[in-house]
Amino acid sequence: MTQILNSSPVKKKITKELKSECKKLIENGIQPYLKVILVGNNPASLVYTTNKKKYCEKIGAKCDIVSLSENIDLNLFLEIIYEINHDDQVHGCIIQLPLPKHLSHLDVGQLVAENKDVDGFHPNNLYSVLSNQTSQNHFISCTPKGIITLLQENFIEISGKRVVIVGRSMIVGKPLFCLLTNHDATVTLCHSKTENLRELTKQCDIIVSAVGIPNFIDETYLSPKKNQVIIDVGMNVDTAGLLCGDVDFDKVKDLVHSITPVPGGVGPMTIVSLAQNLLQAAKNKLSL
Ligand code: GUN
Repeated sequence: MTQILNSSPVKKKITKELKSECKKLIENGIQPYLKVILVGNNPASLVYTTNKKKYCEKIGAKCDIVSLSENIDLNLFLEIIYEINHDDQVHGCIIQLPLPKHLSHLDVGQLVAENKDVDGFHPNNLYSVLSNQTSQNHFISCTPKGIITLLQENFIEISGKRVVIVGRSMIVGKPLFCLLTNHDATVTLCHSKTENLRELTKQCDIIVSAVGIPNFIDETYLSPKKNQVIIDVGMNVDTAGLLCGDVDFDKVKDLVHSITPVPGGVGPMTIVSLAQNLLQAAKNKLSL
């Protein structure tokens, strides 16, 4: 019987912990406070940022969405981030991606102060993952962190396993490559120029797909006898306008050991990880 890696039970457990941690922080005079910078009206970004705000409020943290015009002037944009970086009341800040074209040349990782970078995009935070020296002062990128939590909470072994990640983005593929390596997996990072991808995916124990193409992974990528684990990071819209992942769920679900659904798999784990990072940022302030 295939195990469906629904994030709800894990989310419920972590939410309880986060609510209690948040309560303690508030008793100590600190209410964790996140600012989410949203530029323009990208429909997916609107949904994601609203979900982030709702979840922060659910655990007792404060969250403001700073909605900026699609055409915001570069200097004004930088000034707003500068002010947030220097605002003592704010513990965490994220800049929702993608940014509009005229801002897309900016290196987002360099904009938010390292100690407020709860997205884990700052070079020092990324280096802590690269060098396997993560600590409470460093933040791990939310989606990779959420994937590790989901695997661990479902007792899926990582150490010694062969993992194929498809997609080499700075947000998912590359940091996840490092994190899984730190957890002693043998990781192959694949991308659009990888030759014979099926040969690689058929040989591995865990497949992570983060390519943004509906139905990209189907039964032809699998070895049913290997009891593979499928992690679907895709957040796509299908021809009927419904949210779907990168994996053809119906075609592969009976051929694998376990699989994350979309929606309800990796997506909620990203938000949970963000809230964990936010509370860590607030705690770090308390211990200063
Ligand atoms: N856009 C899609 N995923 C993310 C994320 O994890 N963080 C930010 N800031 N933007 C995103």
